[in-house]
Amino acid sequence: MKNAVTTNIAIDGPAGAGKSTIAKRVAHELSFIYVDTGAMYRAMALYLIRQNISPQDPAGIEKACEQADITIVYEDGEQQVLLNGENVTSLLRTEEVGNMASASSPNPKVRRKLTALQQKLARKTDVVMDGRDIGTQVLPDAKVKIYLTASVHTRALRRYQELQEKGSAVSLEEIENDIQKRDEQDENRENSPLRQAEDAVLVDSSEMTIDQVAQKILSIYRERENA
Ligand code: DC
Repeated sequence: MKNAVTTNIAIDGPAGAGKSTIAKRVAHELSFIYVDTGAMYRAMALYLIRQNISPQDPAGIEKACEQADITIVYEDGEQQVLLNGENVTSLLRTEEVGNMASASSPNPKVRRKLTALQQKLARKTDVVMDGRDIGTQVLPDAKVKIYLTASVHTRALRRYQELQEKGSAVSLEEIENDIQKRDEQDENRENSPLRQAEDAVLVDSSEMTIDQVAQKILSIYRERENA
């Protein structure tokens, strides 16, 4: 879909590559809105967990897609996810919800529902949007597309530290295994697999600071803007 009015930046990549931190930073610098699409898949996953619906139950998922109303609002510039009117933002970043999101997100009905919501947001305002299929499916006309990655070990270590700060007792080994499993699921699914768009710039953040990555993306954006 051609998007003539708003300017969008797409950041895709595997779990734990630093997408949300970087995307937030870039959005702040440019006064764009940051859209975390993983949180939408996680909200859907939370609904499935609560309703005891298996990701392998297509009829259950179809019904869930009709019944789960997912809405995005912004409070003090921070994205909040409402699930049937309840603010579930603080419940989304657990391993259980992440694993369910990875298992249920290949479902085409889930993807169609959430892609439409993401495209609507990007049509309304300038966004930095992160996810798995933003450059390839959701915003194919994005002005800048970044494929942000890092080694499995680096990504596991980052998520481990993040979870430890929240007081969660998950081992590094468990997280490494989860990341590997999630990469495999995200890369090998039939619908919208995780892959680098042809016109995306590859950035490996393993040996880079947050600031270096953000500056690199901002300089790519400014180059495009002046081109
Ligand atoms: O980025 P995250 O860990 O919050 O994403 C959780 C899961 O949601 C991830 O395993 C795959 C899925 N996802 C997706 O399929 N497409 C997106 N655009 C974003 C996330």
